[in-house]
Amino acid sequence: MSADWYHSPAARTWTGDSAAAPVRQFHRSMPGYAPTALHDVPDLARELGVASVRVKDESARLGLPAFKILGASWACANVVAARFGTDPTDLPSLRRAAEGERIEFVTATDGNHGRAVARMAALFGMTSTVFVPAAMVASAAQAIADEGARVERSKGDYDEAVAEAARYADQARERALVQDTAWDGYVQVPEWIVQGYETLLLEIDEALPEPPDLVVVPVGVGSLAQAVVSHYRRDSSSRRPALLSVEPRTAACALASLSAGESVTVAVGGSVMAGLNCGTVSASAWPVLRDGLDGAIAISDEQALHAAADLNRAGVSSGPSGASTLAGLRAALAVPERRRALEITTTSTVVLLNTEGSRQAPRADTAGSPAPS
Ligand SMILES: Cc1ncc(COP(=O)(O)O)c(C=O)c1O
Repeated sequence: MSADWYHSPAARTWTGDSAAAPVRQFHRSMPGYAPTALHDVPDLARELGVASVRVKDESARLGLPAFKILGASWACANVVAARFGTDPTDLPSLRRAAEGERIEFVTATDGNHGRAVARMAALFGMTSTVFVPAAMVASAAQAIADEGARVERSKGDYDEAVAEAARYADQARERALVQDTAWDGYVQVPEWIVQGYETLLLEIDEALPEPPDLVVVPVGVGSLAQAVVSHYRRDSSSRRPALLSVEPRTAACALASLSAGESVTVAVGGSVMAGLNCGTVSASAWPVLRDGLDGAIAISDEQALHAAADLNRAGVSSGPSGASTLAGLRAALAVPERRRALEITTTSTVVLLNTEGSRQAPRADTAGSPAPS
């Protein structure tokens, strides 16, 4: 196997044990909820020699330009529900229960998650403090501050920002750490976040007449990929798609861990795929990815930028982290041995999780919009 590619023949028949949570009911109670579009892009299907390429468009999710608020919202709801003894599935009653109370939501982020937590804090009338890596571009930090968060710039990378956020949250009772990655002793909140991502997968189920043959997912800490594997490996009787993860070459912690057979931390460099620029797989995600991912691939910044430009030209708003899935699919299907490993043929349907929009203003008008082609 090359350094950029990993394949596990046993993953397709593995069945996990995670139960589904009532997240869809909760998201339906949020203002502005609508399923996002699953675009059909026939030009890509022709290029890649498959029957259909469907692109899940997360450029306008609950008013933000990325999927992350699905997890952040469900986690914040559960934090509030646990503090005040209320039902987490209904946003209006949670807000009533939290009225006049004080919680400071704390998190660290490469961008999208922190912005989503800040948005949820404002929705609950709470405060938020968001730790960001030293290298975060000013506009991304400003977007978080614009949601009402206090932004703390770490001196280090993403992993260091996470450690700082955890230390800060520990110092006062009203602070609640809402982190989208798990480690020894910190698993409940990340579990809620992973559950929250299920809504995106249920929407895909509803939009397709039958399960796809391949789902391609971008990986930062692997929580979204954990949700994907949990969803498609839950029921041993249903048709199972192949599952392929994609990471930047400069932050390929899942690929390195899968290749090593144990969770390893990689030193991260800079990447245009800001949301994927993480050096350690979430502790809860690791065993699930190890057992249930069919393939993992790493790509360059140039490949991601090229893919983002192609998706935007096809009418699908996409940034490099989201478009990494198209770049990863291209890199996988270009090699016959990898194509065979993923069991992809000319009759296959592929779903790409395009997890963020292009770095322009959120397009709140496009949720549920028709396919661009
Ligand atoms: C746009 C985007 N895509 C994908 C991911 C990866 O998600 P995870 O960190 O759960 O692997 C992120 C994470 O922040 C992101 O912002």
